[in-house]
Amino acid sequence: MNAKVNISNRAGASFPVRRMDFEFGEVPRYWANGDAALTHFMTALSALFPEGEQFFVNSTRAVRNDPKLADPRLQREISAFIGQEAMHSKEHLAFNASAQAYGYNVRKMEAQTGRLINRTIGVTSKLLKPFGFTKEMISLTGTCALEHFTSTIAEELLSNPDIQAMFMDETMYHLWMWHAVEENEHKAVAFDVYESMYGQGAKAYFMRSLALVIAMGLIFITQSYFTAKLLQVDGKLTWRDTKYMLKFMYGYKGFMTRQIPTLLSFLRPKFHPNDDDTTELLNKWRAELGFNPS
Ligand SMILES: [Fe+2]
Ligand SMILES: [Fe+2]
Repeated sequence: MNAKVNISNRAGASFPVRRMDFEFGEVPRYWANGDAALTHFMTALSALFPEGEQFFVNSTRAVRNDPKLADPRLQREISAFIGQEAMHSKEHLAFNASAQAYGYNVRKMEAQTGRLINRTIGVTSKLLKPFGFTKEMISLTGTCALEHFTSTIAEELLSNPDIQAMFMDETMYHLWMWHAVEENEHKAVAFDVYESMYGQGAKAYFMRSLALVIAMGLIFITQSYFTAKLLQVDGKLTWRDTKYMLKFMYGYKGFMTRQIPTLLSFLRPKFHPNDDDTTELLNKWRAELGFNPS
């Protein structure tokens, strides 16, 4: 793999933090299937990550000293979760910089993502304050909803060879597969923090259901807008240049279309991220990517 890997489990959590140092200098312009639209779809997702994952870290840090989270096991999981997300931010920032070098203004998209997150949390907090919802609760529930989105997409990446085949570049393959493994390793942490803080009652359930609807809507709009902006740079925002990607992602049984039932499972009152057991899948991929301790 085109990266140095440094695995550490200082926190003693159920999963380690892997420090990666990918080299993106040789990544071709259209690294996904040689297709501009498919590549830009993935780059648009990557543009959301640095600020998005920083938001997850901040939301969790904001509450971690609360006495309700005193359980040492949960504290260890929080530390490792923060470590993994910080590494994802760092590597996607590095990849985004390599796309910037091709003339795509991904840095601007990262900044727009940060502003969107701040505004959404600000407006929602103001609107829901009279009903007793705090900014900390809203941020954390947003994190839970977005973590459900990332772990769902990540599981599909790990499970579907047709999707894996789109990664024609080895570095990009390893970046996304490493990220996908870790999203599933830590998928329950934010949710466990949320339930420990706010319980499983009607108020907590209402807030997380609302968060899912808002988060999915905003991701869809923002990521589609970024994809269109990237295609515009190449003069490829046309039906001819996008139809393959649109079918691949949103067609009948497309990559994103297929995720809808799993995404909606979050709305079940008794939902927990570990209801979907990915242990075997993770064991397979940790071996495949050389992540097992030697
Ligand atoms: Fe992540
Ligand atoms: Fe995550």
